[in-house]
Amino acid sequence: MDRFIINGGTKLVGTIEVKGAKNAALKAFAVALLSKEPVRIRNVPEVEDIKRMCEILKNLGAEIEHVKDGEYLVKAVKLTNYIINPDIAKKLRASIVLTAPLLARLGKVKFPHPGGCIIGERPIDVFIDGYKKLGAIISQKEDLYEISVSNKLKGAKFIFPNISVTGTESLVMAASLAEGETILKNCACEPEVESLIEFLNSCGAKISGAGTHIIKIKGVKTLKGGTYTIIPDRIETGSFAIMAASTTSILKITKCNPGHLECLWVIFEKMGIKLEYGKGWVKILPPKKIVSVSIKTREYPGFPTDLQAPFSVLLTQAEGLAMVHETIYEGRLNWTDELKRMGANVLNLDPHRIQINGPAKLRSREVESPDLRAGMAYIIAALCAKGESIINNIYQIDRGYEKIEERLQKIGADIKRI
Ligand code: EPZ
Repeated sequence: MDRFIINGGTKLVGTIEVKGAKNAALKAFAVALLSKEPVRIRNVPEVEDIKRMCEILKNLGAEIEHVKDGEYLVKAVKLTNYIINPDIAKKLRASIVLTAPLLARLGKVKFPHPGGCIIGERPIDVFIDGYKKLGAIISQKEDLYEISVSNKLKGAKFIFPNISVTGTESLVMAASLAEGETILKNCACEPEVESLIEFLNSCGAKISGAGTHIIKIKGVKTLKGGTYTIIPDRIETGSFAIMAASTTSILKITKCNPGHLECLWVIFEKMGIKLEYGKGWVKILPPKKIVSVSIKTREYPGFPTDLQAPFSVLLTQAEGLAMVHETIYEGRLNWTDELKRMGANVLNLDPHRIQINGPAKLRSREVESPDLRAGMAYIIAALCAKGESIINNIYQIDRGYEKIEERLQKIGADIKRI
């Protein structure tokens, strides 16, 4: 098992490029299954989750050509299997979005409860209820759900009880090949959802309302192929910005879209962290003293839950008392137990809220990465701490950050993979 060895206490310097958004790229592979024509996907991050997604697609009968680094060509002329490989799906929450193309094209799909980061209960009721509204029948045998439709999915009205990113993406995809009109309310507005809809429309789908809470879809018979260029990863951008601020390093982040992180920049301003930005880049100019600011995670355009862990590390380096209120997942603050052992002054109030009193001198330590974003938080904490830290279970980090150690070495981080 690979692990990272990090010697902290040094400043980062220079420029780092952002890769394509993992959470957009994973869904692009699902979109590619909706069409019988080839779909080219560009700016794909070369991460473990993408490899797992490709394995599932091949198992469903799609042909995948890895054209070059970051570029894939998917041909799904014929789908030969309607079962989403349970062993892989249990590792990858995003596998749930494949239910949409399989239902739309084959009229049936079998899948297990999807896995992924262990950050809370992560139910799938909105998918089940949404597909039922579109006319599907659901059954569950042993560990597998089966969803089927007698003829074609039928357009319907559906209100999401909770805003769900993959729920919105799945129902939009399924409805784009359904008969008649679908109106979805309380939809997710994340840039990844908007980008997916723009691509679907370029393939001939008729969808309006992308980036808003109400989306209307007029079903079409077939979709064409095309080229889908993945948007920059806003969570990676935010993670690098937080890393720079936490280590008081001046860092330029390129190939990103600063407009997708307005909420973080407003908080940075309150903390006294200066920024310069332009089209496709942002430069972080942290002061010596950073002021603490409380945050509450929210759906887009609010503060992203995926940045809560890295941001909490920044709060350990800021002056004053701040509250972190994680509103999306009930298990996403558990990682802070190790942060406390690194010397952070963290008080757990309840499963959704912690208080952080800073600044604290972090101590190096051996830790275990419990999930992707907590893994990134430990990297940032280890870069702040003097001495050698070890991060185990880095498969979790490799799931979403491409060759992270090589990219951090280039900006001066003392990190190696062994
Ligand atoms: C997506 O997960 C992302 N994953 C997550 O990123 C991200 O944290 C999350 O959206 C929120 O932004 C992918 O895009 C692959 P949700 P998703 O459905 O779609 C509840 C990362 O680190 N809910 O929007 O699975 C759910 O429990 C990952 O990259 C239901 O109650 O999240 C949560 O409280 C982690 N019933 C809330 O909705 C459902 O059927 C939002 O979840 C579905 C969700």
